[in-house]
Amino acid sequence: CGICGVVGHHPGTPIVLEGLRRLEYRGYDSAGIATIDHHQHITRCRAAGKLDNLEAALRETPLTGTTAIGHTRWATHGAPTTLNAHPHHVGQVAIVHNGIIENFAELKRELSARGRSFTTETDSEVIAHLLDECIERGDTPQEAAFATIRRLEGAYALAMIFEGHDGLLIGARHGAPLAIGYGEGEMFLGSDSLALAPLSRRITYLEDGDWCVLKTHSVEIFDQEGNKVHRSIQTASLTSGQIGKDGYRHFMEKELHEHPLAIGQTLQRITDPTTRQLVLPEMPFDPATLPRATITACGSAFYAGMVGRYWLESIARLPIDIDVASELRYRNPPQPNQGMALLISQSGETADTLGVLRVLKKEQQKIVSILNVEHSTMGRESDLVLGMVAGPEISVASTKAFTAQLSVLAALTLTFARKRGVINAQQERELTNHLLDLPSRAAEVMKLFGAVRVMARVIAQARDVLYLGRGICMPIAQEGALKLKEISYIHAEAYAAGELKHGPISLIDPSVPVVAIAPSTILFDKTLSNLQEAKARGGRILAFTDAKGAERLSDIAEHLVILPDVDAFVAPILYTIPVQMLAYEVALLKGTDVDQPRNLAKSVTVE
Ligand code: G6P
Repeated sequence: CGICGVVGHHPGTPIVLEGLRRLEYRGYDSAGIATIDHHQHITRCRAAGKLDNLEAALRETPLTGTTAIGHTRWATHGAPTTLNAHPHHVGQVAIVHNGIIENFAELKRELSARGRSFTTETDSEVIAHLLDECIERGDTPQEAAFATIRRLEGAYALAMIFEGHDGLLIGARHGAPLAIGYGEGEMFLGSDSLALAPLSRRITYLEDGDWCVLKTHSVEIFDQEGNKVHRSIQTASLTSGQIGKDGYRHFMEKELHEHPLAIGQTLQRITDPTTRQLVLPEMPFDPATLPRATITACGSAFYAGMVGRYWLESIARLPIDIDVASELRYRNPPQPNQGMALLISQSGETADTLGVLRVLKKEQQKIVSILNVEHSTMGRESDLVLGMVAGPEISVASTKAFTAQLSVLAALTLTFARKRGVINAQQERELTNHLLDLPSRAAEVMKLFGAVRVMARVIAQARDVLYLGRGICMPIAQEGALKLKEISYIHAEAYAAGELKHGPISLIDPSVPVVAIAPSTILFDKTLSNLQEAKARGGRILAFTDAKGAERLSDIAEHLVILPDVDAFVAPILYTIPVQMLAYEVALLKGTDVDQPRNLAKSVTVE
C-alpha cells in the first residue's frame, strides 16, 4: 500500500492524488482521500479499483481543505471494495494504514465489548476506533496517537487527521516505511521518496518506532517511548523528470530500454576509470577467510541471487546457501561463525527479505545488501550496501533492476575471487572486460524487439509454456517464466533442461511451446539434446541463442532470436533482456495492464 499526506496552504486533494499516482505501483486495488474541510470536519472519498476511479469519484464529490491524507491499497484483510478502502473515518478521526495489525482480532473484540461497531472487514479500522476512543475521553490528538500506537502489534505506517484540527497531521511507522518531506509553509508524508519527489527534495526517513507531528511550519519527531528525537534531513536525488514515461507506452517499455544504462551506470560507479579494475567498498569481513555465504531475496531478485550462486561458487569458490526469504526466515539453518548474508532487493522494503535480515543479524552474520533504493529500511539496517544505479523502477514487473543486480553480483564475484586467491590477474582482466563491454552489447539487444514480437505471437496463443535453461541460464528461464505469468497471466514453468525428461516432458505437445535460453556455452550440446527430446514429442521450440548456436538450432526451432556473441560469464545478464521483452510483447498482444498487473504490488511490505 502507499500513503501520502499534506498539511499546507494549497488545496490538499490534488497534491495527495498526484502523490498516490507515484505510489500506485505499491497497490491498486482501491484508493481514497480524506481532508479537513473549512468547517473543520472530516470529508472523504473512496473508490474500488485504480486511481482513475477515485479521480472520477472526486469529480462528482470534490473534497476541499488543505490538510489531506490518501491511500492506495493492496488488499490484505478484506476484499478490495469501496467499503474496505482507506481512509477509515470513525467519529472525529480519519486514518490511512499500510501493513498488518497482528493483534487486530483481540483489539476488535475489546472495542466491540465497549460498544464500538465496525463497518469494514479490515484490520485497519481498529486503529481509527482506538484513536477516536482516546479523543472522546478528552485526549489531545498527540496523546491519542501515542496511546493508540502503543496498543498496536504488527507492521504499520500510519497517517492520521483529526476533526477540529485543521493544519495537523500525525504519522507513525513501525515495520513499514514512511518519510517526511519539508516544504515552505507545508509538510508532506509519503511512503517513499518517489511520492515526495516533486513536492520536496528535503526528506527525513522515519526510523522504526518513530512517530511525528506535522504542522504547516513545524515537524516534531518522537520515538516509541514518546521522547523527542532528532532525525537528519537528507537531500533526495530523485527528480520528477526521472519518473515520467518519456513517450513510451508503458513504464515497462521505458525500463526495458534502460537496461544498457542501468548496467552501465552500475558498473561505472564501481570501476576505477584509469585501471578499469572493479573496486567495491571495503567489506565488513575478510572475503579471503569467509567460510560460507547465504543469499536470499524474493521474486525476480531471488533469481538474480540464483545466478549469483553459480558465479560465487564456480568462480570465487565460495559455498552458498540460497533460499527465498519467506522460507529462509523460518528454516533456522545453522549459521557459520563470521558468515555473510547477501540480500537482494530493488525496493529495500520487502517485508520477507527484511525479516531475514533481522534474523540473520541476530545470528551474527554480516549483512551485505544489493539495493536500488539505498536509503530504504534494508539500506539502513545493513552492514554494507552495494548500490545498483538503475534509477526508479515503476513498472511492477522488475526489468532493469534485475540486470543491475546481476552486474553488482558479477563484480562481487570477481572481487571475492581475487581476494580469495582463486583467479589470476589475466583471468580477472578478461572477465572484467567482458563485463565492462556489456552496456554496448545490451544496446544491440534493443534492436531485437521485432524478432521477439514474432516469437510472442506463438506464446500469446498458448495456455501453458515451458522455459528451459541449464546451469547459469536456468535462473534466466525462471525469470522468463515468472515475468510471463506476472504480466500476461499465461501459465509458465521453468525447468532445468536436463530435468525435463524426469517429469515435465509428459506435458509436451504442440500446444505447449518450449522456450529455451541457449547461448553456445559449454552446456549447449546438452541443452540441444534436451530440446531434441522435446521436439521428438511434438514440442514447438523457440530459442534465444547466438549465431553459433543458431546454426545448430535452426533445424529444430520454429523461431530463433539471435543475440550478440558474449562470454558465458556475462551471458545470463544479456539473455535476461530479450526474455523480459518477450513477456512484454505477449502482454501487449493479450491486452493486459502491463505496468499494473492484477493482484500484484511492487513493494510488498507484508509477510
Ligand atoms: C514483489 C514484486 C516482484 C519483486 C519482488 C521483490 O513481489 O511483484 O516483481 O521481484 O516483490 O521485490 P524487491 O523490491 O525486494 O526486489
